[in-house]
Amino acid sequence: MREFLEVIPDPVSLIESMRAVGYSAQTAIADIIDNSLSAKASQIKIEYDASREPFVSILDNGEGMYANELTNAMRHGSSNPNDAREINDLGRFGLGLKTASLSQCRKLTVVSKKGGQIYARCWDLDYVQERNGWFVTIPTKLELEELPLFKSLVDQEAGTLVVWQLLDKLMSGAYQPQDEMKNRMRDLVDHLSFVFHRFTEKEDGIDPVDIFINGVKLHPVDPFLTKNSFTQPLEGQRIPVNEVIINVQPYVLPHMSHLNIDEIQLAGGKDGLRHNQGFYIYRNRRLVIWGTWFRLVPKEEFYKLTRVKVDIPNTLDHLWSLDIKKSVAYPPDVIRNRLKELIPHFANTSRTTITYPGRKQKNISFEPIWVRTEPSHGTFRYDININHPALLEITNRIDKDGQQSIQFLMKLIETALPLESIYSDLCSDRRNDFELEGELIKQLVEIAKKLIEIAGINITEVFNLDPIARYPQHHNKIIEELSNE
Ligand SMILES: Nc1ncnc2c1ncn2[C@@H]1O[C@H](COP(=O)(O)OP(=O)(O)O)[C@@H](O)[C@H]1O
Ligand SMILES: [Mg+2]
Repeated sequence: MREFLEVIPDPVSLIESMRAVGYSAQTAIADIIDNSLSAKASQIKIEYDASREPFVSILDNGEGMYANELTNAMRHGSSNPNDAREINDLGRFGLGLKTASLSQCRKLTVVSKKGGQIYARCWDLDYVQERNGWFVTIPTKLELEELPLFKSLVDQEAGTLVVWQLLDKLMSGAYQPQDEMKNRMRDLVDHLSFVFHRFTEKEDGIDPVDIFINGVKLHPVDPFLTKNSFTQPLEGQRIPVNEVIINVQPYVLPHMSHLNIDEIQLAGGKDGLRHNQGFYIYRNRRLVIWGTWFRLVPKEEFYKLTRVKVDIPNTLDHLWSLDIKKSVAYPPDVIRNRLKELIPHFANTSRTTITYPGRKQKNISFEPIWVRTEPSHGTFRYDININHPALLEITNRIDKDGQQSIQFLMKLIETALPLESIYSDLCSDRRNDFELEGELIKQLVEIAKKLIEIAGINITEVFNLDPIARYPQHHNKIIEELSNE
């Protein structure tokens, strides 16, 4: 038999170092919510307050745990990362509950209800220090009754309550606890509505999960702005890897001028558009990493509207390097190479959208004013479209000399088009004056009236013409204005 020595980790120093894994308050809370979702909760309530003893309390109505399950859940490394997980399980290392919580607080109490019974366990770091051992305490009935949201758990059929107290890390250096708590939690709503947006919105017949923060329900934040009709989904791809399928769905976001203020905010703000281009990786529908091309291509102005949704199941965890916080994932070579091949395809569409939003119109009879032509391979030019009904009508009305003058005039305008300056304005996300709300509708109505008058066309046709066709969102308003006159 081999000689051996058992070397047991020192609880105090190991737990202390694990506290420094690098969670923020938001990512730590997101990890607790992962557990609730894995336990099939349909409602999750987060409450926090620092007006008296600061706490964070997270209650779900999931399956709950029996006493032995709860004891095991409190164990560091409660499951083997290499074991197969249930298909919807968001966990992996068997650490999240403990590490995420203790990265923020010194006292973690978990209370769970299952089969009509309530069980509770507590990691109290002061007690661990005192006993110098891996001991969890069992809270008394009185202690339980004082826990925020405990009564709500009692009223539920089943579920789990996670309470953080003695928030030394979360509140570190706080001078005014209540303000500090608000500060630290400010980005919580944004973070959770973003990473769990596929859970809080209805997807493929899966019922949405309600998440409340201090009583306010989270709204899903969809990074692809799929509700905006100008968002272009490109052709999706299915990449088979080890007998499972990775779904890749690229989207090209609408040009800035087709986004309202809220959507610009959703898309990451003006500066954010460029910053947030890239892949959006979902592990079991939970967003784990976003806004990166994994260095497959540089972040470029031209790709800035491109966001690619990548869905990976947890069965491929071993291929990805996924860290404890599930926040850093790096795709394996097989997937990287396939993604790389796809990138030029996304980028081309993104380019068209940035430089020429009008091209998106699905309408076949759309008549643009500017047409893009490629006189020879790799070159381009923008010409004025003489077939635009307004131009046709004007040139038909005048004599040969006049027509030649107009043609010359158009050549002049085409040649002097300040492409560089337009490009630089678009890249810096400035909006052109014509596109400012309010003014815009007034101008469109004027143009529509003139087009009807000059080109002798009817109202329906005018909506297929540049520039009216570019603004389908205002068509109703334009019809209304025109019929008022
Ligand atoms: N809210 C919850 N409801 C039911 N079971 C839970 C809950 N939170 C944790 N658990 C149980 O505790 C275990 C350990 O959780 P955790 O430390 O986060 O590791 P992991 O999620 O990687 O398994 C989970 O696998 C699960 O069985
Ligand atoms: Mg977990």
